[in-house]
Amino acid sequence: MTHPGIASPEQSRTGSMPRESADPSPSGSTVLSVRSAVYSYGSELALEGANVSLGRGEILAITGPSGSGKSTLMLVAAGVLKPTAGQVTYNDRIISNENERQRSRLRRSDFGILFQFGQLVPELTAVENVALPLLLSGVKRAKARAAATAWLDRFDVADLATSRPPEMSGGQSQRVAAARALVTEPTVLFADEPTGALDTVSGELVMSEIVRVAREAGTSIMLITHSAKVAAYGDREIVVRDGRTTESMIDLEATGTNA
Ligand SMILES: Nc1ncnc2c1ncn2[C@@H]1O[C@H](COP(=O)(O)OP(=O)(O)O)[C@@H](O)[C@H]1O
Ligand SMILES: [Mg+2]
Repeated sequence: MTHPGIASPEQSRTGSMPRESADPSPSGSTVLSVRSAVYSYGSELALEGANVSLGRGEILAITGPSGSGKSTLMLVAAGVLKPTAGQVTYNDRIISNENERQRSRLRRSDFGILFQFGQLVPELTAVENVALPLLLSGVKRAKARAAATAWLDRFDVADLATSRPPEMSGGQSQRVAAARALVTEPTVLFADEPTGALDTVSGELVMSEIVRVAREAGTSIMLITHSAKVAAYGDREIVVRDGRTTESMIDLEATGTNA
């Protein structure tokens, strides 16, 4: 796997100066940007002007209290929800102007999404679950299974290939779900509290593996979490409050939490 032009983790880390939230992408090339996004569920205003830039290869932590709009922001950024106002740009495409069919094709080809509860198909084995996104995009069965096995191996769960989700621990099924989210080699992984249902120790272990694998692949991550420890895996942090974003003034590197 070669990803030319991707900043190394060192290059993409935050410098020592607090950054303006107007243009927060640190690593030179921005893959994804959300500008002045507003979103309402009927009369419930969930986003009131959110701004996020995600750099190539960057791991961006999104934190904030429950109900502040983090999940909505992620769904808007991933093109699942169309913002009521504002703009979402992916590379040179304004995806907030595109229709559902275009956006869902983009999600399949370029994005991976990982939720708190992996949402594996319980009837399928681990290898079948991970192969699924490839099969849906037309990859031949043998090739899809081989790729799925390789991704399970990256998460050290290749021995679970023929196990089904009900037989797995929470940490194991989140590793399988992470392999499934990454098997299509997405440019961006959207992860919404991916270890939120795990105990602290296995949550941190799974998180460190997701970050390691994503760094190796050059994948950018928008990582939603309410855990400061999980946020510390990011290069940078954005805080969401009442549907608005602010750049965290805590420098992860300077405080040593990013080590
Ligand atoms: N499907 C929905 N219908 C109506 N309101 C929603 C829906 N999803 C979220 N909300 C509301 O939008 C706000 C932001 O929610 P959410 O983005 O889920 O926040 P967070 O992920 O930070 O907990 C909350 O007030 C929540 O109640
Ligand atoms: Mg949420």
